[in-house]
Amino acid sequence: MAVEYPELAELAATGRVPRHIAVIMDGNGRWAKMRGLPRLSGHKAGSETVRRLLGYCRDAGVDYLTLYAFSTENWGRPPEEVSGLMQLLGNFIADNEKELLAQQIRLRLIGRREDLPAELLGSIERMEAATAGFKRQLLVALSYSGRSELVHAARQIAGQVKSGALDPQEIGESTIAANLYAPDVPDPDLIIRTSGELRVSNFLLWQCAYSEFYVTPVLWPDFDEATFADAIKAYMARNRRYGKV
Ligand code: IPE
Ligand code: IPE
Ligand code: MG
Repeated sequence: MAVEYPELAELAATGRVPRHIAVIMDGNGRWAKMRGLPRLSGHKAGSETVRRLLGYCRDAGVDYLTLYAFSTENWGRPPEEVSGLMQLLGNFIADNEKELLAQQIRLRLIGRREDLPAELLGSIERMEAATAGFKRQLLVALSYSGRSELVHAARQIAGQVKSGALDPQEIGESTIAANLYAPDVPDPDLIIRTSGELRVSNFLLWQCAYSEFYVTPVLWPDFDEATFADAIKAYMARNRRYGKV
């Protein structure tokens, strides 16, 4: 496939690009407000950013991309915003189906599936099945929170203990990791948050233990190739010590 972003391809050639990038896509509402538009226009513009980001990640050679699209707490937003967001997510899947297949990207959902509208869940699960054999992955966090993921893991582990398959003394970090939503996916190397907020907002609480964080004031709809490249360059300049010297 032709390279669309040569600067990102150059970064890829260094071999030091993060293998897994996770993004807290924030600031859609403020972007819309600044323009006197309804919040939903901000989310719509934000979904265009996601489409572009898939191209950045392809050219930069990123293997795993996790996007925080809707948190368990986001259900507390006004009903028209929630239903608008669910609609947009459905449209996003439909509009990008061909592209995901052409780019050979495996789509995966992480989050509380039981909370999602049946139609949306159905279209995501069909795409998950259709792309299951691909290596590069797009993980979409929907009705997701780090705490609810850990609750989910605890329930599974308790079930294994109850059935006699697991001895509580054998529970270790690898047991927790093995019962997360996407246990085979490596922890994110880099977590990007847009809109300048310095908090984790319940995202990947277990997996972020040694992730590098990059926060940009840029609002999600304005996130572009240059901002993405800045985040990667900042990551490459970091010294990851993992508690050692
Ligand atoms: C992020 O943008 C998208 C979601 C959380 C779904 P926001 O909607 O949080 O935008 P701000 O933070 O209000 O600007
Ligand atoms: C985090 O953004 C959730 C997503 C990006 C989906 P929020 O806008 O919901 O987080 P807070 O309220 O600023 O912590
Ligand atoms: Mg926000």
